[in-house]
Amino acid sequence: MRKRQVPAPNPRTVVRGIVRRATLGDLDLLVRHRRGMWKAIAKIPRADLDVADRTYRRWAQTQMKSNRFAGFIVDVGEEPVASGCVWLMQVQPRPNWKGTTAAYLLSMFTEPAHRGRGHGARIVREAIRFARARGTHVMLLHASAFGEPMYIRLGFERTTEMRLFLDAGKRRRGRVRASRKTAQRVR
Ligand SMILES: CC(C)(COP(=O)(O)OP(=O)(O)OC[C@H]1O[C@@H](n2cnc3c(N)ncnc32)[C@H](O)[C@@H]1OP(=O)(O)O)[C@@H](O)C(=O)NCCC(=O)NCCS
Repeated sequence: MRKRQVPAPNPRTVVRGIVRRATLGDLDLLVRHRRGMWKAIAKIPRADLDVADRTYRRWAQTQMKSNRFAGFIVDVGEEPVASGCVWLMQVQPRPNWKGTTAAYLLSMFTEPAHRGRGHGARIVREAIRFARARGTHVMLLHASAFGEPMYIRLGFERTTEMRLFLDAGKRRRGRVRASRKTAQRVR
């Protein structure tokens, strides 16, 4: 119980739920879940989250309309309990990479009481199907400590991405908590 936020689910009583594709009418939910994700993985002041919500909503709406972005929602009964999104983004050509589009997985969030029931993994699989069907050959993401075991289990591998904020004032604000292994590596 110390490591996990909620008790392990009883497989006999777990309701699997239905995964569906998000529509523009689900934007409020996707924004709320993304905010939930940030609150779980980083210390970000409320005012910054408020601004980020508005910016993300506008961006996601534009991307969704362009068909380069899809959200997936798990409903249990009438209740949306988990969601995640995938964005088809442009990348530079690289040896052994086909094409110049990569699928980026983002905004993964499951309501705390519904975690550990496979909703997150189902969303990732839907996102993979979406990306594959559009000829995309690679999926990228930044894993939180919560998400890392799930991504590893689904076949993702760690990479060596680094970053430098070019706006000096932003450098250490709202840092995302790295996974334990990553944290050990960077220290
Ligand atoms: C990461 C997250 C989306 C996973 O969602 P989920 O619906 O719990 O995912 P799954 O049920 O498919 O399981 C993933 C892992 O949850 C863990 N898990 C198992 N039981 C759990 C429980 N009772 N409570 C919490 N996590 C549990 C396990 O590590 C499991 O991996 P395993 O199947 O190899 O054991 C969710 O934990 C979350 O919203 N975290 C906060 C936001 C976040 O970190 N988002 C990801 C950003 S990259």
